[in-house]
Amino acid sequence: MLDVKKIKADFPILNQNVNGKRLVYLDNAATTQKPNCVIEAISDYYKIYNANIHRGIHTLSQKATQAYEDTRVATQNFIGAKASQEIIFTRNTTESINLIAYSYARFNLKPGDEILLTHMEHHANLVPWLELSKELGVKIKYIPLTADFRLDLSNLNQLITDKTKIVSVTLMSNVLGVINDLTAITELAHKFKAIVHVDAAQAVAHMPIDVKKLNCDFLSFSFHKILGPTGVGILWGREALLDSMPPFLTGGNMIASVYFDKVTFNELPYKFEAGTPDIANVIAAKTAIEYINNIGYKDIAKHESKLTAYALEKLSGQENIIFYGPVNTINRGSVISFNLKGLHPHDLGQVINEEGVAIRAGHHCCQPLMRLLDISGTIRASLYIYNDEDDIDILVKTLKNAYKVMGHVASR
Ligand SMILES: Cc1ncc(COP(=O)(O)O)c(C=O)c1O
Repeated sequence: MLDVKKIKADFPILNQNVNGKRLVYLDNAATTQKPNCVIEAISDYYKIYNANIHRGIHTLSQKATQAYEDTRVATQNFIGAKASQEIIFTRNTTESINLIAYSYARFNLKPGDEILLTHMEHHANLVPWLELSKELGVKIKYIPLTADFRLDLSNLNQLITDKTKIVSVTLMSNVLGVINDLTAITELAHKFKAIVHVDAAQAVAHMPIDVKKLNCDFLSFSFHKILGPTGVGILWGREALLDSMPPFLTGGNMIASVYFDKVTFNELPYKFEAGTPDIANVIAAKTAIEYINNIGYKDIAKHESKLTAYALEKLSGQENIIFYGPVNTINRGSVISFNLKGLHPHDLGQVINEEGVAIRAGHHCCQPLMRLLDISGTIRASLYIYNDEDDIDILVKTLKNAYKVMGHVASR
């Protein structure tokens, strides 16, 4: 089991009061906090070996280049990729998905082709495809949801056909908390020679990622969701696929030779990494991987499952609560969305914030899903390795007090 007290001590930000109360951080689906070792990895780079990478022969540049490339190898091992050149550093999941849309889809899809998404996608996995569909005249289809907030795969045979060229799905919903079994989707998609992208932005915090087992063609995530710095994400892709794609951004670093009238491109992965990257944060991302690996996903999952069950049980006692997501811990992560009947989530969120509890209120970048659920937004509590039952108790107590005050106002 996790030693939460010991883990908490690694996160300096958690040791503070907010609005006069102990900070209870329950907004981990938006971004996680950073342990001392990650913060130190960033400052060590700037203090000791700040230099640009790949093009310097001096010692600092070599050291920085080595550390930057070490993160690539660590990421390769972290997700079970075949080769380190299959790991492309981007700014975040959003940029990774845009890279697929611009450098793969734009050159491989034609009018009449179809892209398959789901009703639970984050805007990051919707908007790039919506924009592309206008430009290319391709159609977007969606896998709907069941009444218990899971993917409804009963009509998959109609949704995936020889017109389907790209399937892009989330492995875990940032609103509903569900973890999707993608086996049937990837099998059928590949039968029709469609490529599959997995959005692992949420899932990577909660479960080990193995691109071989997932049987996908592209996968993306952001390091800020796994205790790492902001500004660094990855796109993983099968080498042959990445090799066949033109670059997304062009300029320095991604070239082999430049003439006044022509250019040839660098090999993978540099072809997709134009300009000076976020060197310090890429280097520190390796420290985040090491921190997660030292704890181990087995213990992370056990802790989260126990805490999620506790939170669901305690929250169920709240008058007029409506959950948006499964109320058990089967195939779900520690993201819990809910509303209190009659209260606007933003108003409720503000009262909760006054008590030092950081939760999120709103549409969580899933406006179409909110429309489907016929709500303007939800309260979302998302738990991670430094949360404990005490944090849940404070949330529940705060919620009860808020409801006592605001519930009266709402029912008047
Ligand atoms: C499921 C999912 N996909 C994509 C994203 C986008 O991640 P980023 O903002 O790091 O690009 C998020 C962020 O919350 C997410 O939860």
